[in-house]
Amino acid sequence: MIIFDYSNFLEENVKEQGLPENFIDEYKDLIKEAHKTLKEKGLPFIDILYKNNYLASIKKFSNENKNRWENLVIFGIGGSCLGALALHLALNHPFHNLLDREGRKGLPKAFFLDNIDPELVFGLLEAIDIKNTLFLVISKSGKTSETLVQFLISLERLKSLAPKRQIVIITDPEKGPLREICKNEGYLSFPVPPALGGRYSVLSPVGLLPSALLGIDIDALISGAKDMVKRCNNNLERNPASIFALSHYLFNKSGKNIHILMPYAHALSGIAEWFCQLWAESLGKRYDIKGGEVFCGPTPIKAIGVRDQHSQLQLYMEGPYDKVITFLTVKDYRSKVSIPSFYPDIVDISYLGNHSLNELIKAEQIATEAALTKQRRLNAKFILDKVDSFNLGSLFVLFELATVTFGALYQIDPFDQPGVELGKLYTHALMGKPGFDKEKEEIEEFLKRPIYQV
Ligand code: PA5
Repeated sequence: MIIFDYSNFLEENVKEQGLPENFIDEYKDLIKEAHKTLKEKGLPFIDILYKNNYLASIKKFSNENKNRWENLVIFGIGGSCLGALALHLALNHPFHNLLDREGRKGLPKAFFLDNIDPELVFGLLEAIDIKNTLFLVISKSGKTSETLVQFLISLERLKSLAPKRQIVIITDPEKGPLREICKNEGYLSFPVPPALGGRYSVLSPVGLLPSALLGIDIDALISGAKDMVKRCNNNLERNPASIFALSHYLFNKSGKNIHILMPYAHALSGIAEWFCQLWAESLGKRYDIKGGEVFCGPTPIKAIGVRDQHSQLQLYMEGPYDKVITFLTVKDYRSKVSIPSFYPDIVDISYLGNHSLNELIKAEQIATEAALTKQRRLNAKFILDKVDSFNLGSLFVLFELATVTFGALYQIDPFDQPGVELGKLYTHALMGKPGFDKEKEEIEEFLKRPIYQV
């Protein structure tokens, strides 16, 4: 169960910074209009929860393979990595790769490679026993250069072994170079539903296959997701996704466009990372759907409680009034650690004894919330009863719905990402891909610009 507590978004608690208590009623028609837009457009990330005929083959493959390999390497970037990574960090042991095989319940060690830094790639290939590794190559388009080069490098290393047994590809069911390779060479593959955008694909094979191979209960994930859909459909205006979207939309309109997600559970750090991509790539848009220039876009920030109380919090307490903070809190942590009672005569230490880390982390979250509220800083919190697959499924859908609702309120398209194209085209030109003459000229011109360095 997930509760959204938005008390500290309201005037009653944060005075002139907040929203009137009746803001949901006041903007009821706007929300209705946004939902109408979403209904007309369709929501593929919801549809896949009900049309998931790949689920049985994911389970079959993962049951046959999850205890077979020493390592699982995931090649993918952006939406083709962050969801599965968030799930692994949230639901598996915090030091999974350090555990022995028994401690890992026979599951493979997990390596998510969402970068192409040569030191990182070399380091990984040096560190793992490649013979004992299953590689997942995940790219919806099948064209992403970062993922393709990782595929090529692994292919070369596996040449004398059994690449067809050790590489599995997740890509579009019909199109793209990776699909072509699967068709021609017979690699085992799983489909990414065509209508689904990368950052909305965590509950498709993109997130489900790596999760299942890492022992995560994917049925519970889907159940949690469906539960949130039901909850949101039951009351279109008063549900966590809609209220989160509307309040952030209103704050954004009034210049509070820095949106911080701050889990007080280390396990949820990957969720904050995943959210940042979703919020940034979906909502940062130059044009609205009618082609008017809007330069819309909140800036998402990941902060981790309690760690970032000692780094970012000063800014949130005393910096400009342009921020909205959302805590992710957990009622029951899966471990309990008592604080021993030593040094009874040193008051700066003794008060901590006979408490637990569970009490301390909760105290610090409440204290931070109270301090921010006293300074009239906008803050809200999601309360999870615990970190489990069901709640994470719910959380993914909640944030996805909030994102597209914010997009509909702003009348922008939250599903595209035209802004990332130009950099890709320049990379193609720099790497000598044929057909990029114009970009080659532009990048050469750029390289000739005046340089000032010290
Ligand atoms: O959300 C998105 O669309 C992007 O982040 C993509 O997921 C990312 O660019 C990777 O694309 P692909 O899966 O086609 O390799």
